[in-house]
Amino acid sequence: MDYKIKKTDGKTEWFIKDRFGMFIHFGLYSLLARHEWIRTTEKIADDKYDGYLEYFNPDMFDAKEWAKKAKKAGMKYAVLTAKHHEGFCMFNSKYTDYSVINTPFGRDVVGEYVKAFRDEGLKVGIYYSLIDWHHSDFPIDVIHPHRDDGKLLDKGRDIKKYNEYVRNQVSELLTNYGKIDILWFDFSYPNPSPEFVKKMFSFDKEHPTPDVYPKDWMQYNGGKGKDEYESERLIKMIREINPEIILNDRADIPQDIFTPEQCLPEYWMKDKDTGEYLTWEACHTFSGSWGYYRDEMTWKSPRMLLSLLIKSVSTGGNLIMNVGPTGRGCFDFRADNALEVFEKWMKYNGKAIYGCTMADECFVAPKNTILTQSNDGKRLYLHLIDYPFGNLSMPSLSGKIKYAQFLQDASEIIFSDKDENCVFNLPTVLNVQEIPVIEVFLK
Ligand code: GLC
Repeated sequence: MDYKIKKTDGKTEWFIKDRFGMFIHFGLYSLLARHEWIRTTEKIADDKYDGYLEYFNPDMFDAKEWAKKAKKAGMKYAVLTAKHHEGFCMFNSKYTDYSVINTPFGRDVVGEYVKAFRDEGLKVGIYYSLIDWHHSDFPIDVIHPHRDDGKLLDKGRDIKKYNEYVRNQVSELLTNYGKIDILWFDFSYPNPSPEFVKKMFSFDKEHPTPDVYPKDWMQYNGGKGKDEYESERLIKMIREINPEIILNDRADIPQDIFTPEQCLPEYWMKDKDTGEYLTWEACHTFSGSWGYYRDEMTWKSPRMLLSLLIKSVSTGGNLIMNVGPTGRGCFDFRADNALEVFEKWMKYNGKAIYGCTMADECFVAPKNTILTQSNDGKRLYLHLIDYPFGNLSMPSLSGKIKYAQFLQDASEIIFSDKDENCVFNLPTVLNVQEIPVIEVFLK
């Protein structure tokens, strides 16, 4: 397929081919088990929040087990939160004591993760939050836990000093653990509006945000974007350390990948000026939270999970699915079940995902199907989201089809190709778990 994809500085060839990754949100918030934003939604006082350090002891943490599960589920890369907005670091850093090293656990989670995933043959990414609700130089703003504590607390905070801390830590992360494949920043909000604030807190039904904010409060310290974070300088430093690394777009300067969150674009995004296709990765959760949330009940169904992945690839993108390990450091049974859905499906249908992309425009997907096509253009995949029971017509395939089979078992599918219509003759009953795929050999 000769799609014109916009070239960027990082090395994205493997990324576009591999398509499917595992996001891991693990931090102090895993103990509170009520969303990773808990520090700010509940405006938890610093000393109270820091009290959780004493209890952080994930005795079941085994990075090798995580890596094996990711691989089994068909994931080819992973991204782990080295530091989330709460500011707590999951690695040994010269620049802070506020880390996993100073908990009863005392082990470098990032270090063990990188090694285990690499050993398993997966690519390794690190998530680093630009937002920091612990650092004393991070200016208080509208989403900060201290937003209502009066401006006095904000006095003397110097974002320049904070940015230096970020550069130091990022450079530690990129040099202490060998080559890192992805660096995933999070996030910028240069001009926060009341709608933005509302959206940010919308997941928290118990602590709803007010509809109207006082004007001066909304403008309090403004937001944070590339100027505040000195993103250009940060990115330059990163590229010097590792020119091939893949960077996301959340430091407020577009880089290698775009990262739509908890949604899917309807079309493959293009660069507004050049019309070239953009490299992107959707990020999604199994349930409504990134960090472990014990009482969260909105878990996606197997069909939703699989169609997320299929749809992403069908519009030229990747999918990274999140797991929030529990405070004991392992995946809870619901996450294991969700991973198993991918494992079972990918084992037989991975060929319709890896090395695949949006199908050629000349093909029109029949109702209730999604199309992907191999990069070499030779195979077309029809994902039967809703099983048709009997005949399935695809006029746009007429004259272009050589052979067809179910991907799961290479069993031939009889078809007719006449009168400018291709009609598959499908069995009424098909023993599959979820979403069968027709593999078409193109002429
Ligand atoms: C966000 C959230 C967050 C999560 C993330 C993943 O914007 O702030 O908690 O880590 O994106 O995409």
